[in-house]
Amino acid sequence: MDVILKTEGLTKIYGETKVVNDVSLTVRQGDIYGFVGKNGAGKTTLIRMILGLTGIDGGSFTMFDGTELSAARRRTGSLVEGPSLYKNMTARDNLLLFSTLLGTDKSKVDALLETVGLPDTGKKKARDFSLGMKQRLGIAMALLGEPDFLILDEPINGLDPKGIVEIRELLLRLKNEGKTIFISSHILGELEKIATRYGIISGGRLVEEITAEELRQICVAATLLQTNQPEKALEIARRFLHSEEISLEKGTVVIRTPIEDIGALTNELFREGVSVKGISSDDNSAEEFFIRKMEEE
Ligand SMILES: Nc1ncnc2c1ncn2[C@@H]1O[C@H](COP(=O)(O)OP(=O)(O)O)[C@@H](O)[C@H]1O
Ligand SMILES: [Mg+2]
Repeated sequence: MDVILKTEGLTKIYGETKVVNDVSLTVRQGDIYGFVGKNGAGKTTLIRMILGLTGIDGGSFTMFDGTELSAARRRTGSLVEGPSLYKNMTARDNLLLFSTLLGTDKSKVDALLETVGLPDTGKKKARDFSLGMKQRLGIAMALLGEPDFLILDEPINGLDPKGIVEIRELLLRLKNEGKTIFISSHILGELEKIATRYGIISGGRLVEEITAEELRQICVAATLLQTNQPEKALEIARRFLHSEEISLEKGTVVIRTPIEDIGALTNELFREGVSVKGISSDDNSAEEFFIRKMEEE
């Protein structure tokens, strides 16, 4: 089993607007797929189509390598736009009730509370839960059917930093248990620490699909060197750093490879008679990359 979700040209039209426009994306087994886009980009709509909560106006998708859709959805757990909890019930009773409704194994409920970090909420009613606790209970509900694939729509939206860290750790734990996770967010920095692949959606269009490794390479900070002899400095830097990822741009030596010891490089330049007039870094962060992509539409 390799491909868990594959959409091809998926399209949803509301009125005259294609709010999801020709989206082709691929989620592979073991991915934490970060589906990133601003509010209104079309994230929830795409998720609702996948889950069968709304119809499709164009394109298609397959799950679990083309498994029959209703069977594929039984292997999928989801949390879309916040959990629907019974507010006057405890975490445990909520889970027991949903377990009954879904016909899942009730003996798993206590272990699930443990998994999502809600073992000690006792008699506390869901209405008194923090947002983070509600989201974790929502994720527990999504896990009731022991799904292989989890679809989570903005589970970290509105959480405080501690809540964000807790959800992130939970998702990593679930990934390590072998689950594949599709998670939407407009909070870029948060997915950066856990996602293995990203799809960036803007104005209904998928403007980029990229692995975490590719992103890391794009975002490697460049070091900029101003010298009195740019061409000579370029040649020395390439030789000294054993790298061709170094270029001359408008008289500045641009080094796109990590430098362990910048002092050793400037000493070498000095020894060769090149004087360094300035060193700066162009930190092309992941966040900036995403923002640029999201503005592209
Ligand atoms: N049921 C609906 N009827 C009409 N327009 C909708 C409906 N649901 C969503 N939209 C519109 O579709 C666009 C995408 O919405 P949505 O998928 O919720 O975005 P996101 O989840 O990325 O914030 C928005 O412009 C939204 O107003
Ligand atoms: Mg949404």
